[in-house]
Amino acid sequence: MNYNQAITVGDLRDIARKKLPRSVFGFIDGAAHDERTLRDNEGDFAKIRFAPRFMVDVSQRSQQVEVLGNTFNSPMILGPTGLAGILWPEGDLAIARATQAKGIGFCQSTNSNCSIEQLATRARSDFWFQLYIQKDRDFSRSLMQRAWNAGSRVLVLTIDLPLPGPRERDQRNGFTVPPRIGLDNIFDYASKLGWLFRLATGPKFTFGNIDNPDAPARKLMTLAQYVSAAFDPSVTWEDLDWIRREWQGKLAVKGILRADDAKRAQAHGADAVIVSNHGGRQLDGSPSAIAALPAVVGAVGDKTDVLMDGGIRRGGDIVKAMALGARACLIGRAGLYGLASGGQPGVERAIGILQQEMDIVQALLGVPDITKIDPSALFEER
Ligand SMILES: Cc1cc2nc3c(=O)[nH]c(=O)nc-3n(C[C@H](O)[C@H](O)[C@H](O)COP(=O)(O)O)c2cc1C
Repeated sequence: MNYNQAITVGDLRDIARKKLPRSVFGFIDGAAHDERTLRDNEGDFAKIRFAPRFMVDVSQRSQQVEVLGNTFNSPMILGPTGLAGILWPEGDLAIARATQAKGIGFCQSTNSNCSIEQLATRARSDFWFQLYIQKDRDFSRSLMQRAWNAGSRVLVLTIDLPLPGPRERDQRNGFTVPPRIGLDNIFDYASKLGWLFRLATGPKFTFGNIDNPDAPARKLMTLAQYVSAAFDPSVTWEDLDWIRREWQGKLAVKGILRADDAKRAQAHGADAVIVSNHGGRQLDGSPSAIAALPAVVGAVGDKTDVLMDGGIRRGGDIVKAMALGARACLIGRAGLYGLASGGQPGVERAIGILQQEMDIVQALLGVPDITKIDPSALFEER
């Protein structure tokens, strides 16, 4: 099957699994420890039922939303995912261009394989930028300044990675970044010739924002070493005050799972909170994002936007999240499966599938304008 024959995000995942070396597929598909939170992210969406309203005029339907000063055709932002370049040459640019073509948002990761400046000049300049606070605060500041100068007006501060999560699939598969090819994994890499050829003949694989003279710690070999050496596990809410002073645009805090943390983020100046467990890649045993969402929405009221991510594989999942109070959703793996399946058109296929699914769900549910949805669109079992 080709990406343009894919009917669902699940189909794109199947194609990605066939096209990627096992260890590379495991890196995007996998999560922490027993991967329970990953499964719950998806499974808890499936447990929610719709309460369709009929005899509603659904001849005109809209997915358009306003989020943090942006207007998007659909309530979707392709979320920050480091290392997209290992799936497809210049993968971040492919994702950014696909999001622009589809009229939705894109958030670049600190660990992107292209630099902030490359993204802005070669794909789109109205991107969101995701920051991991580095021990070297000057370097963190320079990342923020570069993002602002390039055109970004939304900073996403990810707070759930004091240390990288324990990804056992990666350990088992001997996955490292950059890939280390040895006797144990040479067949894994060599078996996926299309992928190998694209990566070998494409532009050199770099860490756009970190392969930089301002980032001395990057001289270490692997990304894991870099993260351990450079990311700061001592970050507290006071650092959010510092970020708030430094960043003049909109500020979103990503990795919120508790009502009290949502209130803290709000009190320290966040314009939005993103309910997220990092796609189950950090603390296994955390609640699913969709289960954590209602309490956060209840805690912050109307003053702060609530976004969410984790487990979105169907357009209907986005509708459910919005019924529970999310203003929009970030999408992680669904876009990456598309990228691995076919580069930019593969990502566009993933977005298009989610948009089409949302559209039919809205029509059958009786919600022509997605911004008007509320919890009454969901069935409550008694
Ligand atoms: C391969 C991969 C890399 C990721 N890298 C980052 C990152 O650099 N920064 C970040 O804040 N979140 C990162 N995430 C988490 C995503 O932004 C998002 O929270 C998660 O993927 C959402 O779950 P989903 O994949 O089920 O949609 C990454 C996720 C994946 C799968």
